[in-house]
Amino acid sequence: MRPPIRSFFYTSLPFALIPLLSLADPSDPDVEHEVGNYFGPGAQASFVAQNGIVSTSSHPATMAALDILRTGGNAFDAAAVAQFVLTVSEPFASGIGGGAFLVFYDAKTGEVVNLDGREEAPAALSPEAFLGKDGKPLPFKEQATGGMAAGVPGTLAAMDHLLKTRGTITLAQALQPAIRLARAGFAIPEPFAANIRSAASRLSKFPASAKIFLHPDGSPLKVGEIFVNPDLADTFELIAKEGIDVFYKGKIAQDIVDAIRKDTVRPGVITLKDLARYRPVERSPVHTTYRGFDIYGMNMPSSGGVTVMEALNILEQTVYDKAPHGSADSLHLFADAQNLAFADRNRFLADADFVEVPVSGLLSKEYARKRAEKIDPKKALTTPVDFGSPEGMSELPLSPRLAKESECTTHFSIVDHDRNAITVTTTIEQHFGCGIVVPGRGFLLNNELTDFDVANRTDDGHLFANAPTGEIRTRRTALGDDSKTQGGKRPRSSMSPTIILQDGKPRFVLGSPGGATIIGVTLNVLSNLIDAKMDVQVAVNAPRMIARNGAMELETPFYRNEALRTDLEKRGFQVNRRQHLGSVQAIEISPDGWLRGAADPRREGLALGF
Ligand code: GLY
Repeated sequence: MRPPIRSFFYTSLPFALIPLLSLADPSDPDVEHEVGNYFGPGAQASFVAQNGIVSTSSHPATMAALDILRTGGNAFDAAAVAQFVLTVSEPFASGIGGGAFLVFYDAKTGEVVNLDGREEAPAALSPEAFLGKDGKPLPFKEQATGGMAAGVPGTLAAMDHLLKTRGTITLAQALQPAIRLARAGFAIPEPFAANIRSAASRLSKFPASAKIFLHPDGSPLKVGEIFVNPDLADTFELIAKEGIDVFYKGKIAQDIVDAIRKDTVRPGVITLKDLARYRPVERSPVHTTYRGFDIYGMNMPSSGGVTVMEALNILEQTVYDKAPHGSADSLHLFADAQNLAFADRNRFLADADFVEVPVSGLLSKEYARKRAEKIDPKKALTTPVDFGSPEGMSELPLSPRLAKESECTTHFSIVDHDRNAITVTTTIEQHFGCGIVVPGRGFLLNNELTDFDVANRTDDGHLFANAPTGEIRTRRTALGDDSKTQGGKRPRSSMSPTIILQDGKPRFVLGSPGGATIIGVTLNVLSNLIDAKMDVQVAVNAPRMIARNGAMELETPFYRNEALRTDLEKRGFQVNRRQHLGSVQAIEISPDGWLRGAADPRREGLALGF
């Protein structure tokens, strides 16, 4: 079915939509009270509906995607629409110059599928690309700024693939709301303004970026000013007319290559051939069970799914279910399960098309039992803890460190009338990616290549698993001649779009931005839903604690609780305060036919349905 696209999507929002305030879990009054104080009276209400729900971190994206659902489109159509509008409304976080991971439940087949639209390394990328003359990694700001950091973008190809294989509207139709928004403009909200302020000096290095985000005198655009992007509207119109080949093989490809190779800050090495051979990849999801639920997540090259699941498997082996949720006993087990899983993540996980990754060994329940034996419920593990020995491990060298990973990116979740469910984490890596807007095209390029381990080899010369090029140099996903080409390795991600099934049907969908914090953030919300049985909005709002094989990081409401903090410190945890961790957009699909959508108040998201 190909529904007509409305001429102006805002006008079709139904008056009958009434957001229902989320109901607090009566067993957890403290958490709700704290969150109320923390996020203020504007803290989000969840939205209850029957036919479809969209939750994104951007109001125009939620409204445009909802409009497609209401006019007969499915969740896959709505996902593409949301992504294109996000390229306009949250250009600093994601877009067609970046990459994305999509996890979806296809109601027709009953299958959960991964779609990998991750950026990839150009063939000529040197493993030393991010090292200085002294052989040491450049300061992160230098690594991340300019053309060398940009991977071959995958988001547009992934959305096109999604529409062609599961959608009901054309790419041209899916682009229309974004084209209208880019031309008509919108008042800049405070989070967007704040992001421009903090990136202004970086953006000023690139004239095409300054033209869009700064005033002629170099000052940043301010909250409330109307943001228009006619270049991006033209770009989308060209793609609508000619299809994605114009982006990967045609005029836009040439402009991308020129922008990267002629960059005066740090020119990169992408060629037309790199763009032409990009393809999104459908993969099998990773899976585990947890307390009666089936958990599905993103496979390699994201470390997100495996690490979330290994931590859950470890928790299952402990008395975590007996400890009061949010107590020191419970946070202790939760932190050390994360620490153990993170040690394995850093050691083993990377692009499995290039290196051997022991996914099934890491996810075996027997392995989790052995890992859990290391946890002492009275005394914190000394971090960093060592990685384990999962079945199938190879002799790959250890990743040396937790690479600096930016906390930008964005997440959205959508469920439709037929109960197709899709959860998408999408990124250009750091805020404003590598800083380069492709001149005349209106979109930013990513700096995803900094998600590789840039200190790339051991003292005796072996490349690390997540080095920019692999020791197995065959692109196993490639076709024909491409299979022998260099390049194509995809940097390890932490993005963790997750779908939870109960009795074979989707029950929750969720995910978050936040670089390497995404894994812990996803675990927090998942545990709030399953272990504490919280309402989905309460689960999203509740304060978070993460651990990444180092200090325990507590959001302010936990941190301010002195008795809790002292107890954790006495057990040996180093406790650090974090203002905000992540921005989760989640949906609950109740077995009795209702959907409840929640958006995260940490980023002013919006969940709406009908
Ligand atoms: N760039 C964020 C991630 O891929 O995890």
